[in-house]
Amino acid sequence: MSTQENLLAAFAGESQANRRYLAFAKKAESENKKGLAQLFRVAAEGETIHALSHFQTAGEVKDSMENIQTAIAGETHEFSEMYPNFMEEATTENNNNALLSFTRANEIEKEHAKFFQEALEKNGDIAEQEYYVCEICGHIELGSAPEKCSVCGAPKEKFKHVA
Ligand SMILES: [Fe+2]
Ligand SMILES: [Fe+2]
Repeated sequence: MSTQENLLAAFAGESQANRRYLAFAKKAESENKKGLAQLFRVAAEGETIHALSHFQTAGEVKDSMENIQTAIAGETHEFSEMYPNFMEEATTENNNNALLSFTRANEIEKEHAKFFQEALEKNGDIAEQEYYVCEICGHIELGSAPEKCSVCGAPKEKFKHVA
């Protein structure tokens, strides 16, 4: 592999390690292992630093207009091809948990594409807003948390304010 390919492979690996360690930290917290949870979170921070460095070094961070287009292309690929294929296969295999996970993500990628499309149309000059994200499915609400998530039905308390 070339160094360029190695940078992208390392970016993928470090990105996954970050989320893996955050998942492990949550588990450690649920087991009341606070020190271990902290260690996983600290390592996760380091993996993020590595991931961002590899990604930047690979030349993948362009100007914002190009970045928005990259985001739209990625989201569109996910909701128009990737997740529909994954959902079909999960259905065939009767894997209902996977089907639910894919279906929820698929709905939210459509939202992401829509938000990015609006941002593109405004040349990236969009106002800061009060965003609320459902911690169960990722659904975005503006202004305030709803009584119930319109995508997954989660209650208001599951919405996290993103400043
Ligand atoms: Fe997305
Ligand atoms: Fe939700």
